Amino acid sequence: MIETLDALREAVLQEAIGGLTASPKTLSPWLFYDERGSQLFEQITALPEYYLTRVERSILAAHADDVFLDAGAEVTIAELGAGTAAKTGLLLQAATRFQDEVLYQPIDVSPTALEEAATTITANIPGVSVRPRVANYITEQFALERPEQCRILALYIGSSIGNFTPSEATAILRNLRARLQPGDSLLLGTDMAPGKHKPVATLLAAYDDAAGVTAAFNKNILARLNRELDAGFDLDAFAHRARWNASESRIEMHLESLVPQTVLLAGKRLHFAQDETIHTENSYKFTDAAVAKLLASANFELAHTWHDANQYFSVTVARAV
Ligand code: AVJ
Repeated sequence: MIETLDALREAVLQEAIGGLTASPKTLSPWLFYDERGSQLFEQITALPEYYLTRVERSILAAHADDVFLDAGAEVTIAELGAGTAAKTGLLLQAATRFQDEVLYQPIDVSPTALEEAATTITANIPGVSVRPRVANYITEQFALERPEQCRILALYIGSSIGNFTPSEATAILRNLRARLQPGDSLLLGTDMAPGKHKPVATLLAAYDDAAGVTAAFNKNILARLNRELDAGFDLDAFAHRARWNASESRIEMHLESLVPQTVLLAGKRLHFAQDETIHTENSYKFTDAAVAKLLASANFELAHTWHDANQYFSVTVARAV
């Protein structure tokens, strides 16, 4: 455990030094998710402006049975970045209507989140057994179990894939595909680009809420560097910014320096010009065509796509080919 914590601290340090001495300055979004950041993200999912979680849940509630109706065999459910698996219950419940036993394999970097997922699911959904795996699905290889006669249904929901550039997203799905066989499935949740019923303002509000929770979530990245690396960031000297980058079809989050300032981090002096930003996150937004292209690039064939009535969010089932 000590070794793991040391390794984590080292990774945070490397990321911070690398990102903050680069030009333009960046910090990677995985840094958001320490204990405090994970709490703030949970709060974000309940905000009125953050429609993503609510709308995806409503799509899953409407179509959970359809996912299993045409799976063609019994399935085991694996989930990338499962976290506490808050939305997965809907699908696990549905699976137990089609088969007596379901093996659920959540994969996540956070052992505490996985423990919570395992406890809640075991207590509430009879017929599901949980086999958690602590792994970073981006940097580490992971194994998937395949009970006899079972197909694998992989879940990658919550628009988590939106944090990655198109080429990174392809690499993640190819890595998953390498663990699957033809006939196995992927259920992918993606947030949609602005459209007829979805103004850019709706997207911007989802990433800059009135209560300031997203601002606190963004600034927590600096608070974390202060806590873990003894850095000297003055949180009041930075402002949360959300921007729509139309040409890249993504929301960007930045932390903007309100004054010219120098910050000490691990013996290095980092200079920030007034208005200079640290780019902390991309959240890519998809069209149906972009989802289809991404899936094809990783050898998946689209089977179904479901949206809410306003086309805010989409859930796609694809088959490994
Ligand atoms: C967890 C990556 C899907 O991009 O919407 C929420 C993270 N960032 N508010 C997203 C997030 C700001 C979220 N994902």
